Amino acid sequence: MPWRFIIFEGDARLAAGEAIVAGFRTKYPEAKPEHVEVERARLARAPLVIAVVSRAAPHVKIPEWEQVLSAGAAAMSLVLAAHALGYAANWITEWYAYDRGVLAALGLNDNERIAGFVHIGRPSEPPEDRPRPPLNEIATRFTGR
Ligand SMILES: Cc1cc2nc3c(=O)[nH]c(=O)nc-3n(C[C@H](O)[C@H](O)[C@H](O)COP(=O)(O)O)c2cc1C
Repeated sequence: MPWRFIIFEGDARLAAGEAIVAGFRTKYPEAKPEHVEVERARLARAPLVIAVVSRAAPHVKIPEWEQVLSAGAAAMSLVLAAHALGYAANWITEWYAYDRGVLAALGLNDNERIAGFVHIGRPSEPPEDRPRPPLNEIATRFTGR
């Protein structure tokens, strides 16, 4: 099980925001108050945020790469499960997913990484789509020739 979840809901989302603000102020001591408030509210944009934490590590049999991928699969499964239940979900990382100080304050060990913060709630509007590549550009058939 090379991953685990951390659940943020209710007031704990803003407590996590304090950790994000502390990291932000370290990077940008001159930051404007309105920018600081954006950081404080980062995990409060949805009623439920689930951090998917990868704890991939060297293993006698299982390549680390596959352990990393499995955290991505866990996150994607969360997104699909939320949508299947009629909610909306958005998988987001942002800068604080890579800031060791913030991660330590959120409870991650040094050997753990964020695969994503999966934001779950009720959709206020249908999500926008964007241009997709033609399928034949990203899917080819192996012919053996
Ligand atoms: C690993 C990963 C990291 C992401 N990080 C961010 C992010 O930092 N900020 C953001 O606005 N969206 C982020 N997203 C969401 C994507 O931009 C995109 O909206 C989402 O993957 C849905 O894909 P689609 O737009 O192709 O349908 C991330 C998605 C993934 C899979």
